[in-house]
Amino acid sequence: MERLVIFDTTLRDGEQSPGASMTQEEKLRIALQLERLGVDVMEAGFAASSQGDFDAIHQIAQHVRESTVCSLARASLRDIERAGEAIRPAERKRIHTFIATSPLHMEKKLRMTPEEVLERAVAAVKAAKNYTDDVEFSAEDGYRSELDFLARICEATIAAGATTVNIPDTVGYATPELYGEFLRALRERVPNSDKAIWSVHCHNDLGMATANSLAGVKVGGARQIECTINGLGERAGNCALEEVVMAVRTRRDYFGLETGIHCEQIVPASKLVSSITGFPVQPNKAVVGANAFAHASGIHQDGVLKSRETYEIMRAEDVGWSTNKIVLGKLSGRNAFRQRVKELGIPLSSEAELNDAFLRFKDLADRKSQIFDEDIQALFRGSDKRRQRDRYEFVSITQQSETGERPTATVVWTEDGVEKRSTADGNGPVDASLRAIEAEVNSGAEMLLYSVNAITGGTESLGDVTVRLSKGGRVVNGTGADPDIIAASAKAYLNALSKLATEAPCNPQHAV
Ligand code: KIV
Ligand code: ZN
Repeated sequence: MERLVIFDTTLRDGEQSPGASMTQEEKLRIALQLERLGVDVMEAGFAASSQGDFDAIHQIAQHVRESTVCSLARASLRDIERAGEAIRPAERKRIHTFIATSPLHMEKKLRMTPEEVLERAVAAVKAAKNYTDDVEFSAEDGYRSELDFLARICEATIAAGATTVNIPDTVGYATPELYGEFLRALRERVPNSDKAIWSVHCHNDLGMATANSLAGVKVGGARQIECTINGLGERAGNCALEEVVMAVRTRRDYFGLETGIHCEQIVPASKLVSSITGFPVQPNKAVVGANAFAHASGIHQDGVLKSRETYEIMRAEDVGWSTNKIVLGKLSGRNAFRQRVKELGIPLSSEAELNDAFLRFKDLADRKSQIFDEDIQALFRGSDKRRQRDRYEFVSITQQSETGERPTATVVWTEDGVEKRSTADGNGPVDASLRAIEAEVNSGAEMLLYSVNAITGGTESLGDVTVRLSKGGRVVNGTGADPDIIAASAKAYLNALSKLATEAPCNPQHAV
């Protein structure tokens, strides 16, 4: 069967989602999971956007061996040079260069003539070839571009050495039939179209990113789909990896294509991205939503019990939902713990790291009788020895609340290793604890969202808190988990403040 290339851009386009910015250590953890998932290409970032993005790509390029590591670059020599440097250590490397080709973008954003754009695109592809043979060219806002000009620029970039040509629906304007036909017509007009792999990159503004991408494949002849885990991405997001992969696999009869994705790694990847970014997955989300395989109606339950195929087109375990969710408890030993950590794909750098985590596990097991996979993942989140320490780290909290009285909280944390303590009152104990921190840090940030979820069912579950803060046009998400939701809230707030204190990557869509 012909191969469909899966190009994951969770770490680049996904990260452009407001509030989804990730630390270098978080990006590496996601990159390693994407490698386990078997993505062909991972776009690790946009090297020229910031030193932080450059370093994250460089580190990923040092660790990832199976997937191709890619950096985005605008069609400028400096961007190409930064991208080339960042991906240098990778076993397999790609530079993805782009420039806008729609009349609207060329005139209003770039203020360039079509001829200038074409020249820049060709020069960028040629420059990228000095760093790697694997060069992708994207015509930004391609779907709203004039077919003749688009065909000329595709022909010229392929002739200059582009091995993949990508036609994004940057603003999510396409519909499946029209997008598929557009791609087919375009390929027919490009004389050297057989010298490159054609790619689709669809945004989800009208909820059609998956349908458009699949039409681009089926009707338009594309053999690469650009997508993100959980459909993370700018505005309404990108095409969701789990949806296109499972559509192609479940309807192999229709698409006649195969991917290299290890589907049982889909749910772990979804959970990892959700927990790191703080973007919850909606329960009814296809494939990775908590209810995606839950049958509530009596008729459905009866049918599934008699024969699973009556109402199920995929098997939950094939995409990584574990059938046996209770894993460990108070009496579990170090070996059982080690084995589960290994099965969950959590990377361990040393025996000491395992020992530390085991102590935290025992402590949690004293307070919670059943330890689920999600609890173990949360135990490791934020306590990995290799991670860069956050600027603000939670130490402890004391709080008092009584019906009819205004609650107070005293929070202790470190700022760059120096201990700080502050007390405040508030409308409730969470409000009091966040006020206590803010009284000392004085960030002036605006809180856009506060949410608390139970990581697993039941009141003894770990509380998983997300705090979204905005300051000076930047939006960040902080997360924190603890059986005590007040402590989880303080951790999440400190995590968000730490992210605000780091350098912000710039958004390629907002710059030339
Ligand atoms: O949506 C888009 O056009 C992009 C390009 C940079 C490929 O993300
Ligand atoms: Zn995009």
